[in-house]
Amino acid sequence: MRITFCQGVLAAAIAINLLILYYISRLQQHVLQRHRDHAQPSSPQHLGPLRPGVTILIREFEDFENYVPSVVQSFLKQKPELPVLVVADSLPYPPLILPKAPNVQVVILKPSPAQPAYVFRPEAYVRTEYVALVPDGVRVDSISQLEDMLEEYKRSQGKAEMVAAPVHSLMPFRCLNLKVNLKEWTAEYSEAPPSSKLCTALKGKAVVLLRTKNLFNLSMPLAKPLLTSLFIQTSLRGWAVRILDISFSVLHQPLFTSSHNQWKADNLVKSNQLQLFRDFGIKQVILEEGKEQWFGCSKETPRCFGTIHDDTPEYLYQNRWTPPCCLKALRETAKYVINILEISGVRYWLEGGTLLGAARYQDIIPWDYDVDLGIYLEDIPNCELLRNAESGSIVDEKGFVWEKAIEGDFYRVQYSEHNHLHVDLWPFYSKNGLMTKDTWMDHRQDIEFPEHFLKPLVPIEFAGFIALAPNNYRSFLELKFGEGVIENPEYPNPALKSMNTGR
Ligand SMILES: *[C@@H]1O[C@H](CO)[C@@H](O)[C@H](O)[C@H]1NC(C)=O
Repeated sequence: MRITFCQGVLAAAIAINLLILYYISRLQQHVLQRHRDHAQPSSPQHLGPLRPGVTILIREFEDFENYVPSVVQSFLKQKPELPVLVVADSLPYPPLILPKAPNVQVVILKPSPAQPAYVFRPEAYVRTEYVALVPDGVRVDSISQLEDMLEEYKRSQGKAEMVAAPVHSLMPFRCLNLKVNLKEWTAEYSEAPPSSKLCTALKGKAVVLLRTKNLFNLSMPLAKPLLTSLFIQTSLRGWAVRILDISFSVLHQPLFTSSHNQWKADNLVKSNQLQLFRDFGIKQVILEEGKEQWFGCSKETPRCFGTIHDDTPEYLYQNRWTPPCCLKALRETAKYVINILEISGVRYWLEGGTLLGAARYQDIIPWDYDVDLGIYLEDIPNCELLRNAESGSIVDEKGFVWEKAIEGDFYRVQYSEHNHLHVDLWPFYSKNGLMTKDTWMDHRQDIEFPEHFLKPLVPIEFAGFIALAPNNYRSFLELKFGEGVIENPEYPNPALKSMNTGR
């Protein structure tokens, strides 16, 4: 049998392919084996005290394109015995080919059911007193850069818990001030004066050095994006970061060689950021240039808190107030509903906690979960939406949902079909000079009141617009809630959760 030239080429190609495949699979096994070798710290019982010195910790890099092996090489070239720890969410793929040395370790945060928990805990691998968080792509030109950082850290003690050396990159580097308010679900960044070296957050890339004990005493020490996460946690502890005159250069600029990879990386940062804010309960971020970012609920998502039990929403038990997205949606719904009532000729007034909020804050009470309006029962036919709501819920042209409440004879306007934040409308009628109604809720403030409070109704500033309120609303509120209610804020059900005892 004669073999043609084509068949020969084909056979040779197949043979070469098989060889390559064999080689690749050998290589991968080898690398996997190495990862496993790296990923075995001693069990925590055998760990002694921390040694002096710094561990290089590389946390942020992308599997599809990174310089981690070169970064590690660049440090080891300066000091071969320098401890280096690479931390990844899951086993990097394609594999990282790292220098084979006992001081270079990889920790995978994703647990395997066959291994003890400490294997997946980075703090079990760091045996030095200090850690330097190093971004991907950093090049070290001299070991003195690291040594000087440590010196500067020691010199900053009592003033700063972290020191930072900027990394020369295309991104601007700035000193920021960060205020995180967990109760209000917000993080607000502002620019520090140009000359300031002491910051609570940074913009741009940096090598950050801090005490190992401090890092691993944070709630989520290595959550991504690393510096965003770090500074949210440290600013809550009142820690500062000092910017040093030391700086690092980069191996490659820009970090990603293609715009596609840059796009992929940017998307991953965004999704990590979303997850981080969700985990930390931050729903509104104000950036240093004044831009607002919202991470909470919208018209398209469900309300961010569940059904209310005993007048005490779940966020109060978490020592938090109403999420800012909810307050915003409530203001928007209230303004919208009030406008419709006004143009259709339905007499209304701010009721209950809503009136209390207007009197006390000219706004919704920061921990309130709905808006209450009183209306005249006899005016209902004037409003087409209310009339139609009698026979079932309607979604109006702006997406608000108007319905008769199932709990009793009142109306409810929901922010949207998905998001059930709402304004309740309570119809009252006059009987022998008293305003009364047929459905009563089990609330102290839900009582009859003299009609003279509504004659006349008076304008009041509320949630960024002017609404109508009972005249003499101080006595109206004190009649309903008790004396001094405007001056003495309290949660709706103090027996369960009180503002002052924090119980
Ligand atoms: C860890 O943090 C807590 C509270 O944030 C603090 O009270 C404690 O002293 C810290 N421990 C160490 C070892 O720094």
